[in-house]
Amino acid sequence: MKGLILSGGKGTRLRPITYTGAKQLVPVANKPVLFYAIEDLIEAGIRDIGIVVGDTRDQIKAAVGDGSDFGCRITYIEQEAPLGIAHGVKIAESFIGKDRFVLFLGDNFLRDGIVPLVERFADDPEMNSQILLYRVKNPQDFGVAELVDGLVARVVEKPKEPRSDLAVIGIYMFDHHVFEAVNRITPSARGELEITDTIQYLIDHGLRVHPHVIGGWWIDTGKKDDMLEANRLILDTMETQILGAIDATSEIYGKVVVGKGAEVHNSVIRGPVIVGENARIINSYVGPFTSINYDCEIIGSEIEHSIVLENSKIIDIHGRIEDSLIGRNVEIYKSPIKPKAFKMMLGDYSKVGIL
Ligand code: G1P
Repeated sequence: MKGLILSGGKGTRLRPITYTGAKQLVPVANKPVLFYAIEDLIEAGIRDIGIVVGDTRDQIKAAVGDGSDFGCRITYIEQEAPLGIAHGVKIAESFIGKDRFVLFLGDNFLRDGIVPLVERFADDPEMNSQILLYRVKNPQDFGVAELVDGLVARVVEKPKEPRSDLAVIGIYMFDHHVFEAVNRITPSARGELEITDTIQYLIDHGLRVHPHVIGGWWIDTGKKDDMLEANRLILDTMETQILGAIDATSEIYGKVVVGKGAEVHNSVIRGPVIVGENARIINSYVGPFTSINYDCEIIGSEIEHSIVLENSKIIDIHGRIEDSLIGRNVEIYKSPIKPKAFKMMLGDYSKVGIL
């Protein structure tokens, strides 16, 4: 089987971070979301993976390379515009050929991986497709599936009146029949080739689409709070590993990972927390569910339940920072110059919550 990861898209709900970076490269527990998708495919025995890329192609290629670091082979497929999930499948036809494949949206995050699901799909020629479903409270925000006699009978994209609570999530398995579907369907009202229309086409043409309702959690990391939740869940599964230097005046509680070359001085870290390589935590408090990426400096400040991307500095901030997603090369510091005031230079669509 092959893998196909979609990693285009604009990430509008994560602005301003996504003005400069791909949403699939925002880190969860200091690792880009996209890497978890690649690892899920590899864990399921899939070594031949296509990644559909758009405007952020250069960053994605720089981060993932040819796949050798992961132990797989990556083929990049260029998408000229974000024209829908099914469009991403359509342009991957020559890469996939006649193989069965897993389609994985690069910002989807699954606790339990896909190993048994891939095993089942690979071995059962009766299945033309297998789609993953997740029970949600807001089905109107997703593709919604209706099941009849153990098969998917109908899928509707974001219905106003959902007929079930089963959301179609961003992980799907198909055989070659899917290419007939993506070549026949037409764009939806939002101008995209919809994956739900694709699945409905298969059903309408007598092909068998099997549902699998997942048990563990699933997160679409499109928004800040979803990123923080994914971060919380992953940090909770880590084991303590201290590779950096922690001095005697610091206190470490719970599961804490401190990367190589990192330095913790006169600080309290209450896990689960990850501190990246060469980061410096000085005279500070870092509380549960926080990921501090490499080369950051947290000095004289308090932070909890937050994600800080690489090379950012938080210096002498009085008042705890919580529930925050802080980008790359950001500086938050106490202004030494009078008048005493908030002084900011914020990117478009920034959000700042002040006491
Ligand atoms: C897409 C699909 C939708 C699916 C969702 C899962 O929605 O169109 O069927 O439920 O991903 O994240 P979009 O994020 O494009 O609105």
